[in-house]
Amino acid sequence: MINTYKNIIYLENIDSTNTYAKEMIKKETECPILIYANKQTNGRGRLGRTFVSKNGGVYMSIVFKMSLKDFKPTLVTSYTAVVVSDAIDKITGLKTSIKWVNDIYINNKKLSGILVESVIKNNEAYIIVGIGINVLHQQFDQELKQIVTTIEDEINQKYNPKTFIDEISTSFFTHFNKILTREYINKYREKSCVIGKNIFLTINNEIHQVKAIDIDDEGELIVREKDKTYKTYSGEITKVKINN
Ligand code: BTN
Repeated sequence: MINTYKNIIYLENIDSTNTYAKEMIKKETECPILIYANKQTNGRGRLGRTFVSKNGGVYMSIVFKMSLKDFKPTLVTSYTAVVVSDAIDKITGLKTSIKWVNDIYINNKKLSGILVESVIKNNEAYIIVGIGINVLHQQFDQELKQIVTTIEDEINQKYNPKTFIDEISTSFFTHFNKILTREYINKYREKSCVIGKNIFLTINNEIHQVKAIDIDDEGELIVREKDKTYKTYSGEITKVKINN
């Protein structure tokens, strides 16, 4: 299945595989493309954050074309979260969960993140799905250590990052039409670690204390704040209140 890709690129050291993908899209390169790197010097996360990317992790970008009308970033992100979470569970035996919308968690700590970006060219959307997984033990700084973990730290076992790249890059396109049929959404809900929880949600720099009620078929989070129920596709869960 991995030969679905027209281009497979391995980079020893790069600023960011997503940034590299954008450069490739500017040139006439055939899609789908798989780019993966041993480490990144400027790994990027959602909302302009940094994704620490030392040796021993998965740093990959999948690039493909999609019609503009079908491209919904929240759906691509949540679909990818299911693919990544399933791959980690299958390979390691862990039971990861998903913190809406793009983070894979284990034992209340982040193991993996997803950054979906797009470039519009000639009326077509080129989608860049960036995936980072902390595989081998890394020396995170004191602050990060409280919220981030690695597979090795969780189960004391070393895996080759390539094992995850092969599994994810294959299953991503095997189940791809589930984005259009929304078939993956039930699994996304089952894996959610926020549904039913009291959470802190940041929307436009404002922090809201809400209860996560559900995730709808478009991947949007449904929350209740006091007696008001509403949906969000762009908010950020800053904290899931523990013991609630
Ligand atoms: C997040 O945690 O908010 C998303 C992290 C996404 C990290 C991956 S690593 C490969 C790709 N290249 C990047 O610069 N970012 C993504």
